[in-house]
Amino acid sequence: MEKKIALVTGGVGGIGAAICKRLAQQGHFVLANWIIPGTEAKYLEKMAAAGFGSDATATAFGDVSSYEAMGEMTATIAKDHGPVDILVNCAGITRDATFRKMTPEQWRLVIDTNLNSVFNVTRHVVDGMCDRGWGRIVNISSVNGIRGQFGQTNYSAAKAGILGFTKALAQEVIRKGVTVNAVSPGYVETEMVAAIREDVKQQIVAQIPAGRLGKPEEIAEMVNYLASDGAAYITGANLSINGGLHMYA
Ligand code: CAA
Repeated sequence: MEKKIALVTGGVGGIGAAICKRLAQQGHFVLANWIIPGTEAKYLEKMAAAGFGSDATATAFGDVSSYEAMGEMTATIAKDHGPVDILVNCAGITRDATFRKMTPEQWRLVIDTNLNSVFNVTRHVVDGMCDRGWGRIVNISSVNGIRGQFGQTNYSAAKAGILGFTKALAQEVIRKGVTVNAVSPGYVETEMVAAIREDVKQQIVAQIPAGRLGKPEEIAEMVNYLASDGAAYITGANLSINGGLHMYA
């Protein structure tokens, strides 16, 4: 497959960095978006240790919750490296609380970062993909967007919103050679899951038929496939990778 330019929002995070690595292994040039100072340096160190230098990857600073910032970031990427062919919307945060205790700030932060971000980034790169007749958009949703999760009205709403977005945009751009799909991870070994209260986490893991958390690489494998030429006829789909935690037709 031809070398493409890939942008992974939240690319320095647990799942994001595994996706960056897998896409780099595939031979693409990968840009990892970041916002928290220090995360970009750690990312570049890890990638260098894995044998990926400046010819394979770079970082792209910007707040995904700002439409203007994403416009500037994607313009800089286009100028320095070329237009984005593969977009993975992976940036996400949690602010868990039962709804009756949830603050407007907890609601707003999660909707802005996890859902509005998908508009903010995709809107800036989708025209170029359509004009060039090739593009791949992969949105990272969650098992909790499909089934809902106690303590996550904000996160579940954002992740469910991503699924609606995916199916609607997929219909609009498939005739231009652009596919739009979602991947819904279950509970994966990341800092986000590590932050769950220990007793609650143990209860959750006990419900997973696989008997363990997922690995970031197990998510990255699917993203890489959806980004490939071979996946041209898959669009508007949602691929669950959750160890059997939630099964549906
Ligand atoms: N279903 C029904 N009742 C539940 C419940 C559940 N799943 N979980 C807790 N309860 C009950 C408790 O038993 C408790 O009942 P009592 O008052 O009768 O004792 C009551 O609800 C309050 O529960 P907590 O003590 O847990 O409430 P809290 O305010 O201390 O904590 C919380 C709330 C922070 C949301 C905590 O429940 C929690 O962390 N839950 C897990 C949320 C979660 O799964 N987050 C996923 C993060 S990872 C991620 O998001 C990645 C991904 O995509 C999967």
